[in-house]
Amino acid sequence: PVNLYGELRKNSMGVNFSNDNELKALAEAVQAKSGPWTAEPLVPGAKSTGATVAVTNPADRRQSVGSYVAADSATVEKALANAVAAQHNWDRLPAASRAAILEHAAELLEARRGEFIALCVREAGKSLPDSIAEIREAADFLRYYATMARRLFGHPEQLPGPTGESNQLFLNGRGVFVCISPWNFPLAIFLGQVSAALAAGNAVIAKPAEQTSLIGYAAVKLLHEAGVPAEVLQYLPGDGATVGAALTKDPRVAGVAFTGSTETAWAINRALAARNAPIAALIAETGGQNAMIADSSALPEQIVKDVVASAFQSAGQRCSAARVLFVQEDIADKVCEMLAGAMAELKVGDPGQLSTDVGPVIDEDAKKILVDHAARMDKEAKKIGEVTLDAANTGNGTFFAPRAYEIPGLSTLTREIFGPVLHVIRWKADELPKVVEAINATGYGLTLGIHSRINDTVDYIQSHARVGNCYVNRNQIGAVVGVQPFGGEALSGTGPKAGGPHYLLRFAGERTLTINT
Ligand code: NAD
Ligand code: ALA
Repeated sequence: PVNLYGELRKNSMGVNFSNDNELKALAEAVQAKSGPWTAEPLVPGAKSTGATVAVTNPADRRQSVGSYVAADSATVEKALANAVAAQHNWDRLPAASRAAILEHAAELLEARRGEFIALCVREAGKSLPDSIAEIREAADFLRYYATMARRLFGHPEQLPGPTGESNQLFLNGRGVFVCISPWNFPLAIFLGQVSAALAAGNAVIAKPAEQTSLIGYAAVKLLHEAGVPAEVLQYLPGDGATVGAALTKDPRVAGVAFTGSTETAWAINRALAARNAPIAALIAETGGQNAMIADSSALPEQIVKDVVASAFQSAGQRCSAARVLFVQEDIADKVCEMLAGAMAELKVGDPGQLSTDVGPVIDEDAKKILVDHAARMDKEAKKIGEVTLDAANTGNGTFFAPRAYEIPGLSTLTREIFGPVLHVIRWKADELPKVVEAINATGYGLTLGIHSRINDTVDYIQSHARVGNCYVNRNQIGAVVGVQPFGGEALSGTGPKAGGPHYLLRFAGERTLTINT
């Protein structure tokens, strides 16, 4: 697509699922890369003596995927010292040189997608289509931020001034940026944050989610191979509460790009504020309590198709996923009946099989929260549908059967339920303003779906709902880089939007140079 600045850039092509040869080659590439994978901190001059952590497959916990060595405190300290020393030279490189390295990394990633898909399936439990999409999105971020770096950082902006005076505005890296990412987009969000921070001229310390440390390691190795110096991009696996917290309280850190839960964003914000240090930039992209609103003019078949994809794809483990369907009462019975039917068709099982619709959830902790929530809903709500699990395919993994409940109102939900659970609420024709108010009152503001064929209704909802990404008559997941810049408001995040034209600016400082000529 042509971006805001009129530059041409192509998003990654992905895989043609109707081409048997392409699929066969991909399946072979994925099978050929079966691990075991290992990882350790990538910090020149340090050798961590931290714990070795075993990694197992979420779809079958008996299967080892590999292991990683967590960063100890001396390694964290060395990484910070290295980053401070290396940042200036990286920032002094022409933006076009940094951009070319990121573009080279995108090519390497696509050339090796078999291994990355295998890792996403085995370490993160991602389905094959989700894993393919993950590689595409990661490559798109690399190329998009490269394009934006050339445009924004390539040369200073000339500003007006009196005769005999030259005024210029320069963008520069802020310093050391810490990138802290979640497990649910272990490659795309990881590389998105890291590539943006690098493109803007920062030295980067990347802390992956504990659950997906192997994917983060492979991604950092790839960027090193593409040409990013080892001190400019360092990798620090380990617990959020130790490694993450040690980084965010350090006064040498000039900025943090964080994606994860709202609670962790608050903790990071407090840690940054408590430092006796220059004020750091914080980009936080967090959770949601995302709704889809359907009125009686909408097509029930389309509502059901889109809400099933939005709520259950990726086992509901997307921040963008639909958690609540508000359906107008005239069509509610029909929609609920069709929803139960569509759910009965969902196949839950091995994420490595193309026939699988829903894979495992990430770990036992995630499953326990879902099981506890379902136990409460079983008592307090009316069940609309639940997928039956095949014990032979799911018995050894952390699987959770997708389900849907009818609830009386949004106040029944007190927190984001991060998994394949959909809640349905009926509304009457005159209640639309109350529905939108209730959605705003959750405090979150990430995605919203609207299903209606009445333009005034669509206009009313989209202009009164406080959300970052609004989708009309389609599903509400899978934002595309440069097409649907992604990110929420209020409890859902600080902005600016990832994959959008203003993202890099938050990673940058600005300086003016005035010369009396
Ligand atoms: P999480 O907040 O538990 O962890 C995210 C990262 O923060 C991990 O790397 C973790 O190690 C680290 N961390 C934890 N405590 C820390 C601390 N005290 N200091 C520094 N770092 C710390 O989130 P998660 O379970 O990995 O991810 C799921 C959450 O992410 C959901 O709430 C989801 O909605 C959200 N999410 C948001 C977006 C978005 O773009 N808005 C995208 C994906 C996921
Ligand atoms: N960007 C991801 C989506 O839109 C989270 O689903």
